Amino acid sequence: MSLKGKRVVIVGGTSGIGLSTAKAFQDESAQVIIASRSASKISKATQTLGQGVEGHELDFRSEENAAEFFKNIGQIDHLVVTAGEGAMGLFRDLPVSDARDAFDSKFWGQYIIARAAIPYLDKSGSITLTSGVYGLRPPHGASTLAAINSAIEGLVRGLAVELAPTRVNVVSPGIVDTPIYAGMSNEQRNNMFAGISEQLPVGRVAKPEDIAETYVYLAKNGFTTGTAVLIDGGARLI
Ligand SMILES: NC(=O)c1ccc[n+]([C@@H]2O[C@H](COP(=O)([O-])OP(=O)(O)OC[C@H]3O[C@@H](n4cnc5c(N)ncnc54)[C@H](OP(=O)(O)O)[C@@H]3O)[C@@H](O)[C@H]2O)c1
Repeated sequence: MSLKGKRVVIVGGTSGIGLSTAKAFQDESAQVIIASRSASKISKATQTLGQGVEGHELDFRSEENAAEFFKNIGQIDHLVVTAGEGAMGLFRDLPVSDARDAFDSKFWGQYIIARAAIPYLDKSGSITLTSGVYGLRPPHGASTLAAINSAIEGLVRGLAVELAPTRVNVVSPGIVDTPIYAGMSNEQRNNMFAGISEQLPVGRVAKPEDIAETYVYLAKNGFTTGTAVLIDGGARLI
């Protein structure tokens, strides 16, 4: 299925996996619209992506914002959502309010934006959400993310049935080198990536481009729906 001229919205398309995904859809000659909260990230990303890309401010946790966003942009062919903030910490230590905030962002944000898109989404198009390998294989401190990622994958199976013929899928990445780890020092981050790389069958952590092509595949392949595509370098096996 060609993506040439198709209108593709990427919520979270201003950084990391989303920004690479925007580039990957551009390479397929799609018309790309990116959205996130920060005006400066939008401006930087639209400059990086170059001509023809539209950028919009959006907080996907707000139903009002989401409704206004689609009212402004109108009909679309595909929706990709990579936005979302998680929470790490041992179950007994992580404050419940932090776990709720993470659900508000990564689970409810994706729920709200997918719901708001329905009237504007071409029925032959697709929705692709984002979960993560911690849904299947949580290390210590990832029980909240395990719950969020599993909830997203459950939602996707339900939506694939309910929104048919629109296809609904989810990408589940392993560890990817993106600005999500910008809060760590370089040394901490490099040590973490080196430790993980040593254990992974593929011998490295992912680059955002590794994950981006999975979103393109899911938008293009008209026979795939209700599926979680795990792209984790073999993390679930170790
Ligand atoms: N990187 C990894 O190792 C990894 C592994 C597994 C799963 N994932 C998942 O993959 C997804 C993307 O991660 P990433 O590494 O690409 O992160 P990232 O580089 O931090 O990008 C996150 C993007 O989401 C946007 N965003 C965050 N909250 C938002 C909100 N409330 N409304 C609208 N946009 C919002 C951010 O822009 P603004 O700040 O401008 O809003 C940014 O564009 C996340 O769901 C993450 O949990 C990542």
